[in-house]
Amino acid sequence: MITKNKIFEAYQLNNIILKNRIVMAPMTRSRAANKGKVATAELQGEYYKQRATAGLIITEGSQVSEEAVGYVNTPGIHTEEQVEGWKKVVDKVHKSGGRIFIQLWHVGRMSHPDFHNGELPLAPSALNPNAQSYTPDGFKDTVTPKEMTVEDIKRTVQDFKKAGENAMKAGFDGIEIHSSNGYLFHQFFNGTSNVRTDEYGGSIENRARFFFETLDALKEVVPEEKIGARFNPSLDGMFGITMDEDTIPTFEYIIKRLNDYNLAYIHLSEPFTDVSEVKYAVKEIARHFRPLYDGTLMINTGFTYETGNDVIVKGQADLVAYGKPFISNPDLVDRFMYSVPLAEWDNDTFYTPGKEGYTDYPKQELQVKL
Ligand SMILES: Cc1cc2nc3c(=O)[nH]c(=O)nc-3n(C[C@H](O)[C@H](O)[C@H](O)COP(=O)(O)O)c2cc1C
Repeated sequence: MITKNKIFEAYQLNNIILKNRIVMAPMTRSRAANKGKVATAELQGEYYKQRATAGLIITEGSQVSEEAVGYVNTPGIHTEEQVEGWKKVVDKVHKSGGRIFIQLWHVGRMSHPDFHNGELPLAPSALNPNAQSYTPDGFKDTVTPKEMTVEDIKRTVQDFKKAGENAMKAGFDGIEIHSSNGYLFHQFFNGTSNVRTDEYGGSIENRARFFFETLDALKEVVPEEKIGARFNPSLDGMFGITMDEDTIPTFEYIIKRLNDYNLAYIHLSEPFTDVSEVKYAVKEIARHFRPLYDGTLMINTGFTYETGNDVIVKGQADLVAYGKPFISNPDLVDRFMYSVPLAEWDNDTFYTPGKEGYTDYPKQELQVKL
C-alpha cells in the first residue's frame, strides 16, 4: 500500500521548491582524504547524488579556513581547488534533481594543536572543553585553547564571508551556519565556555554578537533567503557544553531576533541525550521554539517516518532532517513512501576513508503493489 502523507508534500523554501520535506542532515564523513581537503565528484559527488531524492541535502560540516579544522579529512570551502571540487559535487546533485546547501564550520576549541602545526586552537575563552579531538593519529584529549582577540574574531567573520562567497561560486542552493553542537558559535553562546568581559561576553546579547556579525557579513554575499542556521539548545554533557540558567534564554533571544531576517530556515535539534534530569534543559525543542519563530523551522534527531510526519502535521516543524538513516538508506524517501524496512548503519565506517560504508549502501528494489 502506498502511504502518502504531509512529509511528502512539496515545500516552498523561499526561492526554491523542495520536492518533499525530508532533509538529509549534515554529517561529517571524513572522506576528503587528499592533500587539498577537496570534495570530489567520485566520492562526495556520488554519495550526495545517490541521496538526491531528499527534498534538501545539507552537506557535512566544511571548514571555512585552516584555523577552523578539527577533524581528520573534512573538506574545506576556502581554496580555489576546493571550490572547483564542490562545483562538480553540486552539479551531480542538480542533474539528479536534488537541492543542496553547504554547512559552514569552525570547530573552535574542539580542535587540537596537531591540526595547527602545534599552535593552540581558538575559542572565546581559554577554557579546556575536557573532551576528545579526532586527530590524524586518533582520539586525543583537547587542550586549553587560545582566547580569541577581537582581531581574531573579525578575521573569522571574514573567513565565513569568504566561504559564503565561495559557496555561491560553487553553485550551492544555500548555506547553513554551523552554530550548533558545541562548536565555535555555540562556545560563544554558552556561559560555561565564554567568560569574556568585552563586548563578546557577559550579557546574552554580547554572547550572540559574533554570530550576528557573521550573519550580517554573510548577507552581503549570500542572499538572506539562502542562509540557514543550526542550533542545539539542550545540548548538555557533550562536546564540552554544560547548560546553565542563561542557556535557554540565550537561544530564545537568538531565535526571536532571527525573525528580523528572511532566512531560508532555522535548523534545531531535539536533545542528543536524555535531559530529563538536566535542570535547565528544554525537553521538547520543536514544541518550545515553534511559537517563537515565524519562518521555516527544520527539526532533527531521532525521528522515524511516523514521528517526522507527525511533527509536521502538528505544526511544530516544516521540515524534518534525518541523519543516520540517510547513511545506510540512500533511497530513504522511497523507503518511507513504500514502507520498506530501513537498512542498519555501520558505525565503524562513519569516518573511514573511501567508498566502503559510504557509497556502497544499496537501494532497495521496490516491488510495489498498487
Ligand atoms: C557520522 C555523523 C556525523 C555528523 N556530522 C555532523 C556535522 O558535520 N554537522 C552537524 O551539524 N551535525 C553532524 N552530525 C549530527 C547529525 O546532523 C544529526 O544531528 C544526528 O545524527 C541526529 O540525527 P539522527 O537521529 O537523524 O541521526 C553528525 C552525525 C553523525 C552520525
